[in-house]
Amino acid sequence: MARIPDAFIDDLLARTDIVEVIGARVPLRRAGREYQARCPFHDERTPSFTVSPGKQFYHCFGCGAHGSAIGFLMAYDRMEFLDAVEELARRAGMEVPQETRQRHQHADLAPLFEVLERAADFFRERLGESPRARQYLQRRGLDPATVERFGLGYAPPGWDALRSALGTDARRLALLERAGLLSRNDAGRVYDRFRDRVMFPIHDRRGRVIAFGGRVLSGEEGPKYLNSPETPLFHKGRELYGLWQVRQAHSRIPRLIVVEGYMDVLALFRYGIDTAVATLGTATSADHAELLFRNAADVYFCFDGDRAGRSAAWKAAEAVLPRMRDGRQAFFLFLPEGEDPDSLLQKQGAEGFQRQLERSVPLSDFFFAELGQDVDLATLDGKARLAERCRPWLERIPEGAFRDLMELRLGELTGLDRARGQPPAPPAPRPHRRPTAAGARRSLVRTLVALLLQRPQLALEAGPPPWAFSRLRQPGVPLLGELLELCQRQRPPNTAALLEHLAGREETPALHKLALVEFPGDESAWQKEFRGGLLQLERQARTQRIAELQALQRERGLDAAEKDELRALLRGTHDQAGRA
Ligand code: UTP
Ligand code: MN
Repeated sequence: MARIPDAFIDDLLARTDIVEVIGARVPLRRAGREYQARCPFHDERTPSFTVSPGKQFYHCFGCGAHGSAIGFLMAYDRMEFLDAVEELARRAGMEVPQETRQRHQHADLAPLFEVLERAADFFRERLGESPRARQYLQRRGLDPATVERFGLGYAPPGWDALRSALGTDARRLALLERAGLLSRNDAGRVYDRFRDRVMFPIHDRRGRVIAFGGRVLSGEEGPKYLNSPETPLFHKGRELYGLWQVRQAHSRIPRLIVVEGYMDVLALFRYGIDTAVATLGTATSADHAELLFRNAADVYFCFDGDRAGRSAAWKAAEAVLPRMRDGRQAFFLFLPEGEDPDSLLQKQGAEGFQRQLERSVPLSDFFFAELGQDVDLATLDGKARLAERCRPWLERIPEGAFRDLMELRLGELTGLDRARGQPPAPPAPRPHRRPTAAGARRSLVRTLVALLLQRPQLALEAGPPPWAFSRLRQPGVPLLGELLELCQRQRPPNTAALLEHLAGREETPALHKLALVEFPGDESAWQKEFRGGLLQLERQARTQRIAELQALQRERGLDAAEKDELRALLRGTHDQAGRA
C-alpha cells in the first residue's frame, strides 16, 4: 500500500474536527466535555458511543469500537484507508502528497482496469450469443436477474476469440497479458487463458472488475474452475467474491455468510439471501477476516461437513480469533455430508438453508470441540493437555468480553483453576465503564504514558534525550521512551494523531485503553503531574543503579569508572533531595 507521510496525517487530523465528521452521519448530543450517541456499530438502547473533541477520537464503551476520524470513515463508510484520507483532505482543503496520490490512484493501472472492463463486456456479449452457455446457467437454476447482477459471461472456445477482439495492437496485447487474460506457451505463443467457460467477473470494493473465474461447461477440459493469476490488481487472498454485490444491496450489512464457491454465492442471492461472499479457492486469510469484520459484526462461515470442511473451518477460526473484538461474533455452519449451499438450496429452498443457519455453532463451541477432539477430559492429564493447547490461542484474542468468556469456558472444561484451590475468576465487569484517572491502580509509567496520550505536547517537558530514567528496568519504560521521542520528533497534534502513528502494533489495544483515561484538572495540572512523574522515575532509576553498583562493590569491587559513577550518583541524590 502506498504510504502517506506521518506528518501529513498529523496535519490532516489537526485540521479535521471529528465531531463534525461523525456528527454529519450520526446524531450527536453534547454531554460535558464530550459528545454521545447510540453506537452506530452495534445495537443498543442507551448511548455508550462517545466522541471526544479534545482527543479527536471516538470510543464505544459497549462494543469497544474506537479510532480517529480516519478510522471512523473506514468503519462507518467502509472506506479503505487511503480513500478515507482523501475524503478528509478534500474537506479540509488539503492536497494528498502528489507521489502517494498517483500511486494510490494507480495512474498506471487505469488501462488495466479498462481492459478488464472491456473483457467483461466481451464475455457478456458472447453469453448472449451462446444458447449452450445460457442453457447451462439455466440448468444450474440461475435466473436472468442474478446472471445480470453478477455480470456473468461466456468465453468462447478456440484460442484467440478475446485476443483478436481486444488485442488489436502490441500495447493492447501487453495489457491483456498483464491483466491475466492471456496465457503463453513454451514456444512464446500467446492465447486466451479462458476458453469455453462460464465467466464470473470478480469486483473490487468499488465495483471495478479486477479478475475472473471461469467454469468449464462440461467436465472435459482442464480444471473445473480456473481463476485469473495474481496480477497488480488481483490478490486472491485479499478478495471476497460477491462483497461488492452485498454492499450494493445493504447500507448496513447485518451479517455476512462466507461460502466456498462462486455458484454458492449466486444460489444464495438467487434465493434472496443477499449477504453471501466466497473466498476464491483459498483458505480464509487474516486479510479476509479483517475485511469481513470491517463490513459486518456477525460472520457466518459455512463449510462442508467432511474432513476437508472441518480443516478449512479451523483455518477460518485461526484467522478470526485475533480479531474478536467486543461486539463481533463468528459462527460456524457445517452442511450435511455431500451438500454445498447451492445443492442444499436447490433441494430445500431458502427455508432449508435458514434452518441450517440456525443450527450454526458459535466460534467458542467450535474452538473447544476442535481442540478437545482427542482429549479425554475425564483424566487430569487430558484436562492439562487441553488447557495447554488452548493457551496460545486464547492469548491471541483481544482483551474483552469474548476472551473472558473463552477463559471461563476453559476453566469450566478443565476445572484446573479449581484443582489449584481457587475457583475460576469471574470475568471482569467491563462494558460501559470508563477508566478514571484516580480510580484505577496504575503504575507510574502507565500514568505517564496515559498523560502523554492525553496531550502529546507534554513530551516537550522531558527535554531532549537521553533521559536518565531510560535505564530503569521496569515494564513500559522502553515504550515511554519511544513515545516521548516520537512526540518530540513528529509533534502529533492530538490523541487521535498519536494513535494513528502507533496503529497496528502489539501494544496498540492497551494504548487505546490508556487513551480513554480522563484526568481531572486542566492542562497545567497535567503538566505538573507529568513533570513530577518523570522526576520520580529518574529518582527510581538512580536508586536502582546505586543499589546495583553497591552490590557489585561488595561482590567484586568497582573499577575506576564505576566508582566515579557511584560517587556522582550519590552526590546527585543529595543535590536532588532539595529540588524534588
Ligand atoms: P467446488 O469444487 O466445491 O465447486 O469448488 P462448486 O463451487 O461446488 O462448483 P460447482 O457447483 O461444481 O459449479 C469450490 C470453489 O473452489 C475453487 C472455486 O473458487 C470454487 O468456486 N476451485 C474449485 C478452483 O479454484 N478450482 C477448481 O478446479 C475447483
Ligand atoms: Mn456446487
